[in-house]
Amino acid sequence: MKINGEKLKKIKVSASNFLKILPERVKKIMKAPGSDVKQPASYKPNSLAASLHPEFIFAEVAETRELPGSTIMYTLVPDASRGTSSLAPFAAGQYVSVTAEIDGCVYRRPYSICSSPSEALPARTGLWPVAKSVHPYPNGFYRIAVKLQEGGKVSEFIHKTWQKGTKTVISAPEGLFTYEPLRDASNVVGIAGGVGITPFRSMVKAILEGSEDFSLTLLYGARRESDILFREELDGAAACSEGRIKVVYVLSDEQKEGFEHGFITAETVAKYAPGEYPYSVFAAGPDAMLKSLENELPKLPRPLRRKFVRFDARGVPQDVKTEPDYTAPSREFYTVKVRNGGAAFEITCGAGETLLSAMERSGVNAPSLCKSGECGFCHTKLISGSYYMPASRDFRRRADSVYGYIHPCCTYPRSDMELDVPVAKTPRA
Ligand code: FES
Repeated sequence: MKINGEKLKKIKVSASNFLKILPERVKKIMKAPGSDVKQPASYKPNSLAASLHPEFIFAEVAETRELPGSTIMYTLVPDASRGTSSLAPFAAGQYVSVTAEIDGCVYRRPYSICSSPSEALPARTGLWPVAKSVHPYPNGFYRIAVKLQEGGKVSEFIHKTWQKGTKTVISAPEGLFTYEPLRDASNVVGIAGGVGITPFRSMVKAILEGSEDFSLTLLYGARRESDILFREELDGAAACSEGRIKVVYVLSDEQKEGFEHGFITAETVAKYAPGEYPYSVFAAGPDAMLKSLENELPKLPRPLRRKFVRFDARGVPQDVKTEPDYTAPSREFYTVKVRNGGAAFEITCGAGETLLSAMERSGVNAPSLCKSGECGFCHTKLISGSYYMPASRDFRRRADSVYGYIHPCCTYPRSDMELDVPVAKTPRA
């Protein structure tokens, strides 16, 4: 056999020689100099990896568009003036974490990308969905839709301050709410609640463009008809998809012809599920909707195996007291000592507040991405103290729980605590 024109030599490895490989390797590693090995700038795998998985992306707002339901869609393009010449590719269903510096404190929030994966690519790749002339952003773009949340510091900040030309920092695309043909069925029932339609908009576009190969029946729940986001686009996509995309609107506060009424239940899913079994169910939306689906889906006439049910990152519980394993605190507030690189902080954290939220408002530059317990990016060493982490948000590796690591984004104090928190590498804004 030849590789790169060179004939490979056959080497016989006896069992005893095989057992020596590891100790030999350890000896070589121990003898190696302690200094970093410099990779030549020309080493292509490194530059390729950096462009596919950048630690962060400098972006600029190129366009804003008001949508129903106090929601604004922002188009983000790479900010070449700060060194980002292109965006990282992503899979439909992923999110970016947006950094916002408010009154000297750094906050980060995940928002699903609602544009198509091919729109993130530079036009020169030739993979753009339509002619280059149609797109004003030749270096690619992401779109995110931000709903103004009641008491939502970051959504309020974005709505008030972001306009064309605003510069910001976002993470590379992240998240596991994506279609995987080896695991998922070829028919997917998508359940969206409110602004939870955003990852599905990206999937719909990807199906139409041919970069995703599955059929999608979308059950989209909104309060009123006027709250429906992307209605025309979704109907247009369904009309030209040759049956691969179907959209059913479910209104909770209005009864109208042509719409389902109420909440999305097992009955609604069974009514519109494709004839072919099994199908996958993907759901994105408010925590209350996902909680209700957890109870509803097992009632399906033909229940689905766990692997066919996928929920988007769901944030912290809306009301942590309703979690089935909730542990009541002994006090209302706790003191948390935080080491953050060379800095030390002593902060107060409410019993019903997550450690990450308390750190953010106290000026600790702590890393985070999903804020749902699942990405592990906020992984922090617990020095002392006790805590409550809802089982529904505890996605730690077993070794982490055994060796005292926590995910502060979904952890609540239950005593005074001491933490060693890594410093976020993402610039502050
Ligand atoms: S931010 Fe993802 S696990 Fe905490």
